[in-house]
Amino acid sequence: MRIMITGGLGHIGSCLIRQIPDQHDVIVVDNLSSQRYCSLFSLTRKITFLEKSVEDITVSDLGTVDAVIHLAAYTNAAKSFDAKSALDRNVKDAKDLALKCVHTKVKAFLFPSTASVYGSDVETMVEDDESLINPQSPYALSKWKIENLLKETLGNDTKFIIVRFGTIFGSSPGMGFQTAINKFCFQVSCGVPLTVWRENLEFMRPYLGVKDACKSIIHLLEGPESYKNKTYNILSGNYNLSDIIESLKNKVPNLELNLIKSPLINQHSYKVSDTKIRSTGYVPTQDLNEEISNTLVLLSGIK
Ligand SMILES: NC(=O)c1ccc[n+]([C@@H]2O[C@H](COP(=O)([O-])OP(=O)(O)OC[C@H]3O[C@@H](n4cnc5c(N)ncnc54)[C@H](O)[C@@H]3O)[C@@H](O)[C@H]2O)c1
Repeated sequence: MRIMITGGLGHIGSCLIRQIPDQHDVIVVDNLSSQRYCSLFSLTRKITFLEKSVEDITVSDLGTVDAVIHLAAYTNAAKSFDAKSALDRNVKDAKDLALKCVHTKVKAFLFPSTASVYGSDVETMVEDDESLINPQSPYALSKWKIENLLKETLGNDTKFIIVRFGTIFGSSPGMGFQTAINKFCFQVSCGVPLTVWRENLEFMRPYLGVKDACKSIIHLLEGPESYKNKTYNILSGNYNLSDIIESLKNKVPNLELNLIKSPLINQHSYKVSDTKIRSTGYVPTQDLNEEISNTLVLLSGIK
């Protein structure tokens, strides 16, 4: 397959371009807005790199492409309350790119949504029950809008695959630190108190190792047609935030907490079920405690 990865220099993309088997051609499109030039260091295979924004992808760029993995986006969920225009752009970019893919008969379009589209009193979230959808932030709402746009636009020649990822943990060559676990690792490594949303301390939530995320993408793209035009929850495990903090305390005993009020309202504690993806033979293998240790080792040079 010839695979185009937008946002391929980001946290997930920089891991993915190293995991995609060599028999596939890889084209990375990234506008370098996050300055992750280092994601291109020491690649062990040849890829094509296009420095451009998603809106500038042409039908000619897509001409011989079989599959698009659309990772490029404004990605800071916590700051998304003040980022309406960036989120509107995410929605527009995804729709326009999907239309170009239909025009050029790209066979598959994979989109990473988020497990934070859920929010209800039900204990366990499954993919195909829309009554469980209740996006908890403008970022999550924009992901839900894109999911629906893709379902309206795609499905015939161009099949969609929607993956609802848990919060990513673990290191990658173009690692980002805006999501909870990686930010915690950075804060404790710098000796500053952990900023934690008080209301979330006892909440159960899904988390996903970055390598597991990439493995799921490859598994679904390489799989049979019956895997496509479907939505999947992807996680390495459901974890309670206070257990994660306990695990950090075991590694950094003098850790301090700065409990702040969450900007999100009407939140619920929930688990996410990954039975659907597991029924296709995919098994996640990353362990959160182990990856926290690995990330802390990477940062252990900070006094
Ligand atoms: N990290 C998570 O916890 C998580 C969870 C669920 C879903 N996702 C989704 O997965 C995708 C990738 O996440 P990530 O953590 O790797 O993000 P990231 O912020 O690390 O990387 C995004 C990349 O996209 C590029 N980019 C941004 N806007 C662009 C544009 N308009 N045109 C071209 N390039 C652009 C940036 O330069 C960056 O390299 C995003 O869509 C994100 O919303 C991430």
